Amino acid sequence: MRAHNITANGAIDMSSIIDGKAHAARLRERVGEAAAALAEKHGVTPGLTAVLVGDDPASEVYVRSKGKQTRAAGMASFERRLPAQTGEEDLLKLVGELNNDDAVDGILVQLPLPKQIRAERVINAINPQKDVDGFHIENAGALAVGADALLPCTPFGCILLLKEKIGDMSGMHAVVVGRSNIVGKPVAMLLLREHCTVTIAHSRTRDLPEVCRRADILIAAAGRAEMIKGDWIKPGAVVIDVGINRVGDKKLVGDVEFDAAMKNAAAVTPVPGGVGPMTIACLLRNTLVAACRRRGISVPESLRE
Ligand code: GUN
Repeated sequence: MRAHNITANGAIDMSSIIDGKAHAARLRERVGEAAAALAEKHGVTPGLTAVLVGDDPASEVYVRSKGKQTRAAGMASFERRLPAQTGEEDLLKLVGELNNDDAVDGILVQLPLPKQIRAERVINAINPQKDVDGFHIENAGALAVGADALLPCTPFGCILLLKEKIGDMSGMHAVVVGRSNIVGKPVAMLLLREHCTVTIAHSRTRDLPEVCRRADILIAAAGRAEMIKGDWIKPGAVVIDVGINRVGDKKLVGDVEFDAAMKNAAAVTPVPGGVGPMTIACLLRNTLVAACRRRGISVPESLRE
């Protein structure tokens, strides 16, 4: 079968690469416009606090990038840094302080946390209205029953990319590879909300290649470099690669073999430049939404789900 997204001269048709960077830039622009309107009409500047415990280099990069993009969108960015040996009680105390700080609309505790701290306890201590990661059990539960929730940023970013690419996903078969609380489970819930038929596959799934081959939409969130091969992809499928795996010193690859996937898929997100930029853009969107909801201000149309 001739793959439909290879041009006559054998090159890859670039229109089938989903440009997450460009989508994210447009979303950040809408957040910036909404922040400017909020300041003008209500005198409110939404604030996001990132809490970083220890000095994990990847977390440093994420937190710096989040801070920069928050400020660029016209919102306030705060950082609270604690040493790697911080105890759980001290971190809980800081979370309590931020819950009570009116200048803080969003609280993000950067993961992973050091071993002596139970992440679950800390996440569930955050005021759910300020839980811009959408990880609090109350937000996870609200998503599961279809109530209003702050949505986890990476899954939300995946759905926005799919909506742009496909439009109506009703009745399509979506396969999610990975069952984490941060990506796999919530993205499956969001796909259900879009009326997809959803399969959640994972490391113990029997005949994973065959399960993947049934996917009209394939979400790769297993966290294993290039584990999903090109011939696991149904011709015409849309592939969202959530993986960010460092191979060697510098190179980043996804969970999908990108070049091979492009031969079968209708569209694929690249790594980097696919889902990653959407995650931060959704975090900014959640901060603005949290600032509005906490004050009873209606969320701007351009940022509704
Ligand atoms: N570490 C890696 N990704 C994330 C994220 O989306 N949120 C938080 N809090 N920590 C992370």
